Amino acid sequence: MESSRKPHVVCIPLPAQGHINPMLKLAKLLHYTGFHITFVHTEFNYNRLLKSKDSDPLDIIHDDFQFRTVADGLPASNQRGILDLPDLCVAMPVHCKQSFKQLISELNSSPDVPPVSCIVSDGVMSFTLEVAREFRIPEILFFTPSACGMLGYLQYEELRERGYFPLTDESCFSNGYLDTELDWIPAMKGIRLKDLPSFVQSTNPGDIMFNYNLKSLQNALRTSSLILNSFEDLEKEVLDAIRIKFPTLYTIGPLSMLEQQLRGGNLDSLDSSLWKQDMGCIDWLDKKKPGSVVYVNYGSLVILTPGQLREFGWGLANSKHPFLWVIRPNLVNGGTQVISHDFLDEIKDRGLLLDWCPQEKILGHPSIGGFLTHCGWNSTLESICEGVPMVCWPFFGEQPTNCLYICTKWEIGMEIDNNVKRDEVEGLVRELMEGSKGKEMKEKIMEWKDKADRATKPGGTSYNNFKLLVNHLRGESR
Ligand code: UDX
Repeated sequence: MESSRKPHVVCIPLPAQGHINPMLKLAKLLHYTGFHITFVHTEFNYNRLLKSKDSDPLDIIHDDFQFRTVADGLPASNQRGILDLPDLCVAMPVHCKQSFKQLISELNSSPDVPPVSCIVSDGVMSFTLEVAREFRIPEILFFTPSACGMLGYLQYEELRERGYFPLTDESCFSNGYLDTELDWIPAMKGIRLKDLPSFVQSTNPGDIMFNYNLKSLQNALRTSSLILNSFEDLEKEVLDAIRIKFPTLYTIGPLSMLEQQLRGGNLDSLDSSLWKQDMGCIDWLDKKKPGSVVYVNYGSLVILTPGQLREFGWGLANSKHPFLWVIRPNLVNGGTQVISHDFLDEIKDRGLLLDWCPQEKILGHPSIGGFLTHCGWNSTLESICEGVPMVCWPFFGEQPTNCLYICTKWEIGMEIDNNVKRDEVEGLVRELMEGSKGKEMKEKIMEWKDKADRATKPGGTSYNNFKLLVNHLRGESR
């Protein structure tokens, strides 16, 4: 198809790794099916990509796929590679919106690209809806977290009205109040306050993250269609509850698997990893026995205390299982000095520590037998796609909700107490790698993997929904 005649989709993710990855997958899929794509990074991330890549992302122009940047308005103090989400949530609706408007205007008057026919925006970047309306361009939101997480966020208004938010005082964190069961949430009856997306756990009525998510959802509710990276079998009940508010729901996940089905263009190797990936770990894994290694990763936003790092480390070491442990350069607030010489001596034949890795490749490696994860939604789906059972240590956002579903509904994980202690880590890692519960979880996750596989194959729900989404974006079903 000639470039000038292709429909042109502009994709704009929240500028955090866990949002960029699924949006890039979607953008590539749309490109494979004949769309012209502009993928938008913020300046902050563009500068980081320049450091982690061998080439300038803005120079990468593959057959109608281009990257562009917009301002994010982050203060200079934030330009250290540590993403401060509250700062971002304050700055973006102002700076990013203005800059995004300029970008759309430029794209629309450029002779080099077709006029913009649709915007696919991250669900928590819903201020872009105003820009879309101004230019009379259709927009669809892509919520990158789980459906159970999204249904949790959809309760924020009600939680405020019913007086659950803000918490009355700090004692709520220690007196069992967070164990309160909520009986009014459709498809989630009996869920505890502490299982909902964590920003509700605040005593501050002006809490930035609570209010940002609330506002995003209120904006989103003005649209009727949504894209989700999940599949029908996995979250059926929850999806039915979301459909009451968003009748047109395109569940097209897991995107990693859909990508396997539809790939074939020259963008296959394109990624937007904000850290440089250490590929050497594959050789290390090649030398290990099948299913013998525990993979440990906390995603891109978790911050640990040195004490928590020490407990995880000794728990892993004492389990005696080999482990590959990703310690992101900005993971620990207070430094990694607790990784002592004694510790490194203890693990030298068994443990590999690195900054950042090609996670999907690692999870797909035959030597990996289990995953100690923070329950980020991408990590969860990637684990399901590779059939790797989990030990869970949710940190914030909708990770506690994911954890609840992983451990109690899908039965593919075991939770570590929030107040992490080495003995519990050791015990759960042993159970995961050699216990009967570990075996049951492995069987279960293979069943979910199979269901995910069927959903993304021709005729499957996600496969079909993707085709419907393509029609929607081409304007055929709007
Ligand atoms: C966050 C939330 O955790 C998540 O639940 C929400 O839906 C999106 O934002 P993050 O904490 O970074 O994301 O975790 P996750 O969703 O798991 O995403 C991390 C991504 O980075 C994954 O796609 C993972 O494959 C990739 N990654 C992580 C790497 O490629 N290498 C690494 O070393 C670590």
